[in-house]
Amino acid sequence: MSGIVFFKTKMLEQLKEFYTYQIGCEIWLEQADCALFRHGNFIFGLCQRDEHDAGGMLTFFYETREEVDSMYEKFKDIAVSEPAHNEKYEIYQFFARDPEGRMLEFQYFDHPVDSHLMADELLLTRRSIRKFKEIEVSQKILDKVFELCRFAPTSMNTQSYYFKIVKDKKVIEKLAGVRGKSSSPIGNAPLAVAICSDSELSRRHIQDGCIAAYHFLLASWTYGLGTCWIAAMDREEVKEILNIPEDHYVATVTPLGFPQKPGKEVPERKDVSWFLR
Ligand SMILES: Cc1cc2nc3c(=O)[nH]c(=O)nc-3n(C[C@H](O)[C@H](O)[C@H](O)COP(=O)(O)O)c2cc1C
Repeated sequence: MSGIVFFKTKMLEQLKEFYTYQIGCEIWLEQADCALFRHGNFIFGLCQRDEHDAGGMLTFFYETREEVDSMYEKFKDIAVSEPAHNEKYEIYQFFARDPEGRMLEFQYFDHPVDSHLMADELLLTRRSIRKFKEIEVSQKILDKVFELCRFAPTSMNTQSYYFKIVKDKKVIEKLAGVRGKSSSPIGNAPLAVAICSDSELSRRHIQDGCIAAYHFLLASWTYGLGTCWIAAMDREEVKEILNIPEDHYVATVTPLGFPQKPGKEVPERKDVSWFLR
């Protein structure tokens, strides 16, 4: 399900230019005398009319303060305030007006917020995170993540995978030391999660475990939590530390927490044609 907010405008063509080229929205749909814009999960429409409405406010929010600052640099001329921390709402924001006088807000939430990513953004912005904020991950968020994890596909629907959540700092440190530099990101997070699968439940338990692990990475990012696939953790030492039976498979052990720096750049990716053979 989704929704759209509509506004009347007397200058549709000019605003199309403003909201796409200047603000960075995409045109999601053009319909007769209306244009529908998309900015992340925010869809709003402008329709050409004889009068305009300029009430309310359009808020664009970003993953980092730096992005708000860079929007301010761009929009200094139309800004009506400077970027500042708003204690009441725990946000960082500034206000501006669009060419027709509509109030705009550019902001960053200075606290975790619930899921808001669209599927394409989720897939595009998931990154391997190796440094984390020291803030706690609430049980409420963990419950939401694991609820999504129930829906990973498994061979013959055997549901052979399971998770071990590690909160004990000493155990996290032991896991971080298993593979030197490669596993060290585990030590930077408030939590570690082992994604495992049971060989007695499925003949394809290795595939089940790996798919469940990637599903977990995406489910975590849905709620703003960073992860990093740490390879080659299916080893005796890890199973001993976590009390996992020898014949079970450990797909990965990932650190879990809020990224220290959101908005990490994408490591270079090959062109799509390279992947189509
Ligand atoms: C199978 C596999 C093994 C990986 N092993 C490690 C690892 O041991 N340590 C680590 O820090 N990152 C590891 N990574 C993360 C990759 O380095 C990362 O996915 C890649 O650089 C692309 O970056 P991105 O995930 O941010 O898009 C692994 C990823 C995969 C899929």
